[in-house]
Amino acid sequence: MQDFRGKVAFITGGGSGAGLGQAKVFAEAGCKVVIADIRKQALMAAMDYFKTKNHAVHAIELDITDRNAFERAADETEKVFGTVQLLFNTAGVSQFGPIEKSTFDDWDWQIGVNYGGVLNGVKTFAPRMIAHGQGGHIVNTASMSAFNASSIAGIYSVSKFAVRALSEAFRDALAKYNIGVSCLCPMNINTEIADSVKTRPAKYKSTGFDTDEREIAALREIYAHGMDPEELARHVMEGIKKNAAYIIPYPEARQPIINSIKKIVADILPADPVAPAPDQAAMQKGMEAMRAWRDVRQEIEKEEQQKFDKEMAERARS
Ligand code: NAI
Repeated sequence: MQDFRGKVAFITGGGSGAGLGQAKVFAEAGCKVVIADIRKQALMAAMDYFKTKNHAVHAIELDITDRNAFERAADETEKVFGTVQLLFNTAGVSQFGPIEKSTFDDWDWQIGVNYGGVLNGVKTFAPRMIAHGQGGHIVNTASMSAFNASSIAGIYSVSKFAVRALSEAFRDALAKYNIGVSCLCPMNINTEIADSVKTRPAKYKSTGFDTDEREIAALREIYAHGMDPEELARHVMEGIKKNAAYIIPYPEARQPIINSIKKIVADILPADPVAPAPDQAAMQKGMEAMRAWRDVRQEIEKEEQQKFDKEMAERARS
């Protein structure tokens, strides 16, 4: 996608931080923008800004973990602006603590928002984007934590690794519909994420992490030195234009990513020089079985595509 004028963009987490930056930059480029967020106050403050700009922006209060509400938000968007060509799954939360002390509530909240919310976004909008046939682009926000996991940020990393995998899988699937998928992996952004623990619902109140105001203040200090959200959004726009699989506009990310991949590759090599050589005949049979399965899969996909094309043709005729 090169021209953003007149396109409809749906942005989760659009009330603040990276999502708000995307809303500002893409509205400026001529998009009609829906900002969706769980925090009504943040949406109201954002709308005050957009009213001064006379941009076509509409706000929807949405908890991205609620699948029915997501469908309703998609219906509302289509009613207000028409079909969506740009989806930004940006909303996310973080809370840190030693992973061995985590409760299931700690997992259910962070995984539910950071991974579940992205999944719900893609599952809600991808079928609509396929059906309207105009092509489009989806940007899922992961993090540099999608490449490395540690105890303290463990749950967050698990959620972001999953967003990476989901993005790669849907990128593979949606290319044939002219829908690009990019995975945005920021390092540090100047946003309100230090306070995200305050949006944690009461139903997930059991926690193994002792987050307090001292930690929130210390985290705010880190994020205050991060990239400006609008600058990040301009990189996102360039990434969409190039249909980049990954958008990582931080040169300092290169070495940590290389290091983490090197660690994995190093473990592939046989550590024991007297280890038995791989059984070539068995490997050959395995490859043949893999090729046979791929042929079957392609046959099924061909039939599915023919069914889809027929449905589309019938819909166009009626
Ligand atoms: P932010 O807190 O400023 O913005 C996130 C927005 O998501 C907030 O307005 C919040 O109300 C909303 N939100 C939270 N839970 C929600 C839910 N259940 N439903 C709907 N909206 C919800 O934080 P930021 O930094 O802009 O976060 C955006 C994304 O960037 C997140 O996915 C985060 O993990 C990611 N990220 C942030 C980094 C940073 O340094 N700030 C670094 C790497 C990734």
